[in-house]
Amino acid sequence: MSRIAYVSGAYVPHRQAAVHIEDRGYQFADGVYEVIAVRGGTLLDEEPHLQRLHRSLKELRIPAPMSDTALGIVLREIVRRNNINAGIVYLQVTRGVAPRDHAFPRSATPTLVVTARASRRPDPRQWEGGIGVVTIPDIRWRRCDIKSIALVANVLGKQQAREAGVFEAWQVDGQGWITEGTSTNAWIVTNEATVVTRAADNAILNGVTRLALLDIIAREGCRLDERPFTVEEAKTAREAFLTSTTSDVLPVVRIDGAPVGDGKPGPLSRQLRAAYLAHAASPA
Ligand SMILES: Cc1ncc(COP(=O)(O)O)c(C=O)c1O
Repeated sequence: MSRIAYVSGAYVPHRQAAVHIEDRGYQFADGVYEVIAVRGGTLLDEEPHLQRLHRSLKELRIPAPMSDTALGIVLREIVRRNNINAGIVYLQVTRGVAPRDHAFPRSATPTLVVTARASRRPDPRQWEGGIGVVTIPDIRWRRCDIKSIALVANVLGKQQAREAGVFEAWQVDGQGWITEGTSTNAWIVTNEATVVTRAADNAILNGVTRLALLDIIAREGCRLDERPFTVEEAKTAREAFLTSTTSDVLPVVRIDGAPVGDGKPGPLSRQLRAAYLAHAASPA
């Protein structure tokens, strides 16, 4: 079956889908995006994703390309036309097409692109055995709370992880605090069984998976501390894990080559992963 994309008003074959060379997303990374999981043919946590999209658009002063009702129709139509049961929908909004000039164009219509794809089959070894991360300097801008398409620092970081033979790179700010992964949020469990993750400030993206897990942690009665943590604290933690739309909850068992805890996925990480998967299978 051929893939279909939505590009500013039209459903087109994916191979022919294109935007103008003077789209500001292409020239300035002047745009935002969302990645929404599709589970059982439906969109997971659509509302918080759309809320975050609106927040990102507002922060960059880009008008919404259409109403939420219309956007919901496009998202569902893309899922339907691509026959996605388990996968993701990617949506991107840029400020639009205009002659190249840094300042906002006087008038431009936002460009909306929506694509979807089936999930690659996840490797069960990733959650059964856990994954490794390396730590790298956080070289990004100071508005990582905006889900901007300007991802080149994240791209370089993920490539460093690949070249180190691990799943993710945890970025570390100038004060030695871990901010987040290149496409995931970072968590540890202390020796007192308190779950720790950085509070949602400008240094991290407030993950929708992160938000769902915070609810789950409250429901399961786990202790939580939303605060920054250092590389040293992470390395001596009892457990560590990461979260994202495409990774769910993944245990982290090695940081910079050193084992976390006993080097195996910890009980709390496993419990929270199971609870998150239950939420994803039938969102509350
Ligand atoms: C930098 C960064 N942090 C965290 C996340 C996790 O966010 P979510 O749970 O909404 O997928 C992402 C997802 O792409 C990301 O790019």
